[in-house]
Amino acid sequence: MSEQNSATELLREPLLDVAALRADTPGAESVIHFNNAGCGLLARPVLDAMVEHLRLEAAIGGYEASAARSGAVRGFYQAVAELIHCGPENIAFAGSATHAYARALSAIPFEAGDVVLTTRNDFVSNQIAFLALRKRFGVEIVHAPDRPDGAGVDVDAMASLMRTRRPRLVAATHVPTNSGLVQPVADIGRHCRELDLLYLVDACQSAGQRDLDVAEIGCDLLTATCRKFLRGPRGSGFLYVSDRVLREGYEPLSIDMHGARWTGPEAYEPVASAARFEEWEFPYATLLGCAEAVRYATGVGVAAAGRRAAELAGALRTGLADVPGVRVLDRGADRAALVTFAIDGWAAAEFKAALDARRINSALSYREFAVLDFGDKDVDWCLRLSPHYYNTESEVESVVEAVRELSAA
Ligand SMILES: Cc1ncc(COP(=O)(O)O)c(C=O)c1O
Repeated sequence: MSEQNSATELLREPLLDVAALRADTPGAESVIHFNNAGCGLLARPVLDAMVEHLRLEAAIGGYEASAARSGAVRGFYQAVAELIHCGPENIAFAGSATHAYARALSAIPFEAGDVVLTTRNDFVSNQIAFLALRKRFGVEIVHAPDRPDGAGVDVDAMASLMRTRRPRLVAATHVPTNSGLVQPVADIGRHCRELDLLYLVDACQSAGQRDLDVAEIGCDLLTATCRKFLRGPRGSGFLYVSDRVLREGYEPLSIDMHGARWTGPEAYEPVASAARFEEWEFPYATLLGCAEAVRYATGVGVAAAGRRAAELAGALRTGLADVPGVRVLDRGADRAALVTFAIDGWAAAEFKAALDARRINSALSYREFAVLDFGDKDVDWCLRLSPHYYNTESEVESVVEAVRELSAA
C-alpha cells in the first residue's frame, strides 16, 4: 500500500483504541480468548445491562420489569435493524441461531420432490435439518459444487442448478464454523432475486465481523446468534424476515399467542411483523444484553472490527504455517477471523487441554461437524482459533509460540 493510500485508509477508518476496548472487557486480562467463533467475551456495558435488568426483576417482578423497560426492549429490534439494514418489524428475537433457522425452515410448506439447494460448507446443524426434512417430507438435497481450487462454492454452477432444478429453498452459510472461508452470499443472492427463489442465509459467524446488508445480500431470511462476534450473551440470536416473505404469509409451524391472534373458535391471524416467528416468553435480561452488544458493535464499527480481527487471524495463519507439523486448513482469498489447523502427533482433546493449561481459549472441530469439507481436506479433527478486534498482536505471538512448543514436545 502506498503512503498516500494508507493515509487515506486511516482517514476513512480511524484505528480502534484497543487498550480502551480491552479495559471495557473484563475477561481480556485473564485469558487469551481466541474462541470468539464459539462465544465472544462480554463487554462491560453488556454485562451491566443484563445484571441491571435481573436486579429489577428481583425488585419489582418479572412481568413488571419488562413492562417498565418496554422502550429498551423495542431498542433490541431497532439495534438489529440498523446492524443489518432493514426495518425493526423484520426482526424476530430467537434463543439461538439454530432456533431461528428451525423456525424459518418450519415456515416453508415442503412437499415430496422439492429441492433444497445448498453448499458443501453449510453449517452442520443446517445439513442435519435438511436431512431431517428429507426423511419427513421427501425433499431432495442438492449440494452445489465447490470451485476447483476448493475456495468456496462455484456460484456459476450453483446458478445453473437454480435454473435447472428450481429449488424450493436456496440456503447458504456466509462463514462456516469449520474454517475461515467466506462464501459469496451476495453473488448467490443476485441469482436468487433474478429467478425469484426463496433464499435463507446463515450469518451466525459473520454477524459482528462483516457488514451485513440484507438488501445487498438479496436474502429472504437470515439467521444469526448474538454471542459470537457480536459479543452478546449466550442464548440469544435473531431471524430476519423480508417484507416479501411476511406479505406472502409464511409463518412458523408452531405459531403461538404472541405470533398470532386467536380470532374465533376456528381461526387465528398471524401478526403482520416478524414477531410471528417469536414466542410469548422472552429472556428479557438476555435480550437487553443482546441489544447493548449490537449497539456496542455498531459503535466500535463492524467493518473496522472485522478488518482488525481478520488481520490478527492472518498473522496467526502466517505464524502457524511456519510451525513444523502444522497444516493450516483455511481456503479462499477472502478469509474471516476463524483459523483452523491440523497438527501431527497429538490427539484432539489432549492438544486443546494443553492450550487450556496455558490459558489460551480455543475450540475443536471434528469430522462430524464438517463431513464434506473435512473429507476434502482429509482431516479427522482440527483446532480452531478465532481472534477478535480486542485481541492483540502479542497474544498472536504467544499463541504461535505455544503451538510451536507443543508441536516439538
Ligand atoms: C455457521 C454457524 N451457523 C449456526 C450456528 C449455530 O448457532 P447456535 O449455537 O446459536 O444455534 C453456528 C454455531 O457455531 C455456526 O458456526
